[in-house]
Amino acid sequence: MAERRRPQQLIAAIAIMSALAGAISSCKHDPPISLEPVEVSTSEISFRDQVQPILNSNCNMSGCHNASSAAEGVNLSSFASIMSDDELVVRFKPDESELMEELRGYGRKGSMPPSGQQPLSSEQINVLKQWILEGARNSFWAQGPCDTVTSSYASQIEPIMNTACNGCHSQTSTGGGILLNSYELTKSAAQSGKLLASITHSGAASPMPKGGNKLNDCQIRQIERWISNNYPN
Ligand code: HEC
Repeated sequence: MAERRRPQQLIAAIAIMSALAGAISSCKHDPPISLEPVEVSTSEISFRDQVQPILNSNCNMSGCHNASSAAEGVNLSSFASIMSDDELVVRFKPDESELMEELRGYGRKGSMPPSGQQPLSSEQINVLKQWILEGARNSFWAQGPCDTVTSSYASQIEPIMNTACNGCHSQTSTGGGILLNSYELTKSAAQSGKLLASITHSGAASPMPKGGNKLNDCQIRQIERWISNNYPN
Protein backbone atom coordinates (compact mmCIF):
# COMPACT_ATOMS: atom_id res chain seq x y z
CA MET A 1 0.00 0.00 0.00
CA ALA A 2 1.38 3.42 -1.01
CA GLU A 3 2.30 5.55 1.94
CA ARG A 4 1.16 9.17 1.85
CA ARG A 5 3.88 11.65 2.62
CA ARG A 6 3.24 14.06 5.42
CA PRO A 7 3.77 17.76 4.56
CA GLN A 8 6.88 18.07 6.81
CA GLN A 9 8.55 15.23 4.96
CA LEU A 10 7.72 16.87 1.67
CA ILE A 11 9.20 20.19 2.78
CA ALA A 12 12.33 18.44 4.02
CA ALA A 13 12.69 16.61 0.72
CA ILE A 14 12.35 19.83 -1.27
CA ALA A 15 14.93 21.53 0.95
CA ILE A 16 17.43 18.71 0.44
CA MET A 17 16.87 18.69 -3.29
CA SER A 18 17.38 22.40 -3.69
CA ALA A 19 20.51 22.30 -1.55
CA LEU A 20 21.88 19.54 -3.78
CA ALA A 21 21.04 21.45 -6.94
CA GLY A 22 22.82 24.50 -5.52
CA ALA A 23 25.89 22.46 -4.69
CA ILE A 24 26.01 20.95 -8.18
CA SER A 25 25.68 24.25 -9.99
CA SER A 26 28.23 25.99 -7.79
CA CYS A 27 31.00 23.51 -8.61
CA LYS A 28 30.53 23.94 -12.36
CA HIS A 29 33.30 25.98 -13.96
CA ASP A 30 35.12 26.57 -10.72
CA PRO A 31 37.46 28.49 -11.16
CA PRO A 32 35.94 30.10 -14.26
CA ILE A 33 37.43 29.15 -17.58
CA SER A 34 38.89 31.91 -19.66
CA LEU A 35 38.62 31.39 -23.38
CA GLU A 36 41.30 34.01 -23.94
CA PRO A 37 44.47 32.60 -25.50
CA VAL A 38 47.44 32.85 -23.11
CA GLU A 39 51.06 32.75 -24.18
CA VAL A 40 53.11 30.22 -22.20
CA SER A 41 56.79 29.29 -22.20
CA THR A 42 57.88 26.20 -24.09
CA SER A 43 58.39 24.38 -20.79
CA GLU A 44 54.60 24.35 -20.52
CA ILE A 45 52.09 22.60 -22.75
CA SER A 46 50.65 24.60 -25.62
CA PHE A 47 47.04 23.91 -26.47
CA ARG A 48 47.40 25.42 -29.93
CA ASP A 49 50.74 23.85 -30.83
CA GLN A 50 50.43 20.44 -29.18
CA VAL A 51 46.98 19.53 -27.92
CA GLN A 52 44.77 20.66 -30.79
CA PRO A 53 46.97 19.00 -33.47
CA ILE A 54 46.78 15.68 -31.58
CA LEU A 55 43.00 15.95 -31.36
CA ASN A 56 42.73 17.03 -35.00
CA SER A 57 44.63 14.10 -36.29
CA ASN A 58 43.09 11.46 -34.03
CA CYS A 59 39.58 12.49 -33.05
CA ASN A 60 38.35 15.55 -34.81
CA MET A 61 37.18 14.15 -38.12
CA SER A 62 33.96 13.68 -39.97
CA GLY A 63 31.86 10.89 -38.44
CA CYS A 64 33.75 11.32 -35.17
CA HIS A 65 34.30 14.37 -33.01
CA ASN A 66 34.44 17.32 -35.40
CA ALA A 67 32.02 20.24 -35.17
CA SER A 68 29.44 18.79 -37.56
CA SER A 69 29.46 15.15 -36.40
CA ALA A 70 30.08 15.58 -32.64
CA ALA A 71 29.57 11.87 -31.89
CA GLU A 72 28.04 11.33 -28.42
CA GLY A 73 27.77 15.13 -28.18
CA VAL A 74 31.56 15.45 -27.99
CA ASN A 75 33.02 18.15 -30.22
CA LEU A 76 36.82 18.36 -30.03
CA SER A 77 37.27 20.93 -32.77
CA SER A 78 38.15 23.97 -30.66
CA PHE A 79 39.10 25.06 -27.18
CA ALA A 80 35.64 26.53 -26.61
CA SER A 81 33.82 23.40 -27.77
CA ILE A 82 35.97 21.16 -25.55
CA MET A 83 35.39 23.36 -22.51
CA SER A 84 31.65 23.62 -23.07
CA ASP A 85 31.42 20.06 -21.72
CA ASP A 86 32.00 20.00 -17.95
CA GLU A 87 33.01 16.38 -17.70
CA LEU A 88 35.28 15.99 -20.68
CA VAL A 89 38.13 18.00 -19.20
CA VAL A 90 38.20 18.78 -15.48
CA ARG A 91 40.89 21.39 -15.06
CA PHE A 92 43.91 20.30 -12.96
CA LYS A 93 42.37 16.82 -12.61
CA PRO A 94 43.27 14.40 -15.39
CA ASP A 95 42.01 11.49 -13.30
CA GLU A 96 38.53 12.98 -13.24
CA SER A 97 38.53 13.98 -16.90
CA GLU A 98 36.45 11.81 -19.19
CA LEU A 99 38.84 12.50 -22.06
CA MET A 100 41.70 10.77 -20.24
CA GLU A 101 39.49 7.91 -19.13
CA GLU A 102 38.47 7.19 -22.73
CA LEU A 103 42.08 7.19 -23.91
CA ARG A 104 43.45 5.04 -21.12
CA GLY A 105 40.87 2.37 -21.82
CA TYR A 106 42.01 1.83 -25.42
CA GLY A 107 41.06 -1.64 -26.58
CA ARG A 108 38.27 -1.89 -24.04
CA LYS A 109 34.78 -1.70 -25.51
CA GLY A 110 33.57 1.86 -25.92
CA SER A 111 37.02 3.41 -25.37
CA MET A 112 38.68 5.77 -27.82
CA PRO A 113 39.84 5.82 -30.48
CA PRO A 114 37.59 2.97 -31.66
CA SER A 115 39.47 -0.30 -32.16
CA GLY A 116 40.84 -0.57 -35.66
CA GLN A 117 42.16 2.96 -35.40
CA GLN A 118 45.70 3.72 -34.28
CA PRO A 119 45.80 4.28 -30.49
CA LEU A 120 47.42 7.48 -29.24
CA SER A 121 51.07 7.06 -28.29
CA SER A 122 51.96 7.29 -24.61
CA GLU A 123 53.80 10.49 -25.46
CA GLN A 124 50.61 12.01 -26.89
CA ILE A 125 48.58 10.86 -23.90
CA ASN A 126 51.13 12.47 -21.59
CA VAL A 127 50.82 15.78 -23.45
CA LEU A 128 47.06 15.78 -22.88
CA LYS A 129 47.46 14.76 -19.25
CA GLN A 130 50.06 17.43 -18.55
CA TRP A 131 47.90 20.04 -20.28
CA ILE A 132 45.02 19.24 -17.90
CA LEU A 133 47.37 19.22 -14.88
CA GLU A 134 48.54 22.70 -15.86
CA GLY A 135 44.94 23.90 -15.81
CA ALA A 136 43.81 23.16 -19.37
CA ARG A 137 44.33 26.67 -20.65
CA ASN A 138 43.91 28.03 -24.15
CA SER A 139 47.69 28.30 -24.28
CA PHE A 140 50.05 28.97 -27.17
CA TRP A 141 53.77 29.37 -27.70
CA ALA A 142 55.21 32.49 -29.21
CA GLN A 143 56.42 31.69 -32.68
CA GLY A 144 60.17 31.39 -32.04
CA PRO A 145 62.85 31.75 -34.65
CA CYS A 146 62.40 29.15 -37.35
CA ASP A 147 65.29 26.69 -37.65
CA THR A 148 65.96 26.43 -41.35
CA VAL A 149 69.63 25.58 -40.94
CA THR A 150 69.40 21.94 -39.98
CA SER A 151 67.27 19.85 -42.24
CA SER A 152 66.56 16.23 -41.46
CA TYR A 153 63.67 13.82 -41.42
CA ALA A 154 64.34 12.69 -37.85
CA SER A 155 64.69 16.11 -36.24
CA GLN A 156 62.09 18.10 -38.15
CA ILE A 157 59.84 16.20 -40.52
CA GLU A 158 58.94 13.16 -38.44
CA PRO A 159 57.76 15.22 -35.44
CA ILE A 160 55.50 17.31 -37.70
CA MET A 161 54.02 14.19 -39.29
CA ASN A 162 53.49 12.52 -35.93
CA THR A 163 51.71 15.50 -34.45
CA ALA A 164 49.66 16.74 -37.36
CA CYS A 165 49.21 13.90 -39.83
CA ASN A 166 49.75 10.40 -38.55
CA GLY A 167 46.55 10.01 -36.58
CA CYS A 168 45.08 9.56 -40.07
CA HIS A 169 48.10 8.63 -42.18
CA SER A 170 49.52 5.64 -40.34
CA GLN A 171 46.84 3.35 -41.71
CA THR A 172 45.42 3.36 -45.22
CA SER A 173 41.76 3.30 -44.14
CA THR A 174 41.78 6.74 -42.52
CA GLY A 175 44.25 8.58 -44.76
CA GLY A 176 42.88 8.03 -48.24
CA GLY A 177 45.46 5.29 -48.90
CA ILE A 178 48.45 7.56 -48.18
CA LEU A 179 50.88 6.54 -45.44
CA LEU A 180 53.29 9.01 -43.84
CA ASN A 181 54.62 7.06 -40.87
CA SER A 182 58.15 6.29 -42.00
CA TYR A 183 61.02 7.98 -43.80
CA GLU A 184 60.48 6.05 -47.04
CA LEU A 185 56.73 6.60 -47.11
CA THR A 186 56.99 10.32 -46.40
CA LYS A 187 59.70 10.66 -49.02
CA SER A 188 57.58 8.95 -51.63
CA ALA A 189 54.59 11.24 -50.87
CA ALA A 190 56.97 14.17 -51.22
CA GLN A 191 58.37 12.89 -54.51
CA SER A 192 54.87 12.65 -55.98
CA GLY A 193 54.47 16.39 -55.35
CA LYS A 194 51.32 15.75 -53.31
CA LEU A 195 52.88 16.36 -49.89
CA LEU A 196 53.82 19.96 -50.57
CA ALA A 197 50.68 20.64 -52.61
CA SER A 198 48.52 19.40 -49.74
CA ILE A 199 50.16 21.43 -46.95
CA THR A 200 50.43 24.65 -48.96
CA HIS A 201 46.77 24.38 -50.03
CA SER A 202 47.90 25.01 -53.59
CA GLY A 203 44.79 23.45 -55.09
CA ALA A 204 46.74 20.60 -56.72
CA ALA A 205 45.92 18.19 -53.85
CA SER A 206 43.38 17.92 -51.03
CA PRO A 207 44.24 20.56 -48.42
CA MET A 208 45.87 19.04 -45.32
CA PRO A 209 45.73 18.49 -42.38
CA LYS A 210 42.17 17.54 -43.25
CA GLY A 211 39.68 19.48 -41.20
CA GLY A 212 42.40 21.16 -39.13
CA ASN A 213 44.44 24.34 -39.21
CA LYS A 214 47.09 24.76 -41.87
CA LEU A 215 50.62 23.99 -40.63
CA ASN A 216 52.43 27.13 -39.53
CA ASP A 217 54.81 28.96 -41.87
CA CYS A 218 57.89 27.56 -40.17
CA GLN A 219 56.72 23.94 -40.53
CA ILE A 220 55.90 24.50 -44.20
CA ARG A 221 59.31 26.09 -44.81
CA GLN A 222 61.05 23.18 -43.10
CA ILE A 223 59.24 20.67 -45.29
CA GLU A 224 60.02 22.71 -48.41
CA ARG A 225 63.69 22.79 -47.48
CA TRP A 226 63.76 19.08 -46.71
CA ILE A 227 62.42 18.41 -50.19
CA SER A 228 64.79 20.81 -51.95
CA ASN A 229 67.74 19.35 -50.00
CA ASN A 230 66.87 15.92 -51.40
CA TYR A 231 65.21 14.34 -48.31
CA PRO A 232 68.04 14.09 -45.73
CA ASN A 233 67.18 11.30 -43.29
C1 HEC B 1 41.75 13.87 -40.04
C2 HEC B 1 42.47 12.97 -40.89
C3 HEC B 1 43.64 13.53 -41.67
C4 HEC B 1 44.69 14.29 -41.21
C5 HEC B 1 44.91 14.84 -39.81
C6 HEC B 1 45.56 14.48 -42.32
N1 HEC B 1 45.07 13.85 -43.43
FE1 HEC B 1 45.91 13.79 -45.27
N2 HEC B 1 44.30 12.79 -45.99
C7 HEC B 1 43.22 12.36 -45.26
C8 HEC B 1 42.25 11.74 -46.15
C9 HEC B 1 40.92 11.14 -45.72
C10 HEC B 1 42.79 11.82 -47.45
C11 HEC B 1 42.14 11.35 -48.77
C12 HEC B 1 41.73 12.53 -49.60
C13 HEC B 1 40.65 13.35 -48.96
O1 HEC B 1 39.68 12.79 -48.42
O2 HEC B 1 40.79 14.58 -48.94
C14 HEC B 1 44.08 12.47 -47.32
C15 HEC B 1 44.92 12.72 -48.38
C16 HEC B 1 46.20 13.21 -48.25
C17 HEC B 1 47.14 13.37 -49.35
C18 HEC B 1 46.83 13.07 -50.79
C19 HEC B 1 46.15 14.28 -51.36
C20 HEC B 1 45.65 14.13 -52.76
O3 HEC B 1 45.00 15.05 -53.24
O4 HEC B 1 45.91 13.08 -53.37
C21 HEC B 1 48.30 13.87 -48.82
C22 HEC B 1 49.59 14.17 -49.56
C23 HEC B 1 48.08 14.06 -47.40
N3 HEC B 1 46.79 13.65 -47.10
C24 HEC B 1 49.01 14.58 -46.54
C25 HEC B 1 48.72 14.94 -45.23
C26 HEC B 1 49.66 15.64 -44.38
C27 HEC B 1 51.06 16.06 -44.80
C28 HEC B 1 49.02 15.82 -43.18
C29 HEC B 1 49.57 16.53 -41.97
C30 HEC B 1 50.13 17.83 -42.18
C31 HEC B 1 47.70 15.22 -43.28
N4 HEC B 1 47.55 14.71 -44.52
C32 HEC B 1 46.76 15.19 -42.26
C33 HEC B 1 43.06 12.50 -43.89
C34 HEC B 1 43.88 13.25 -43.07
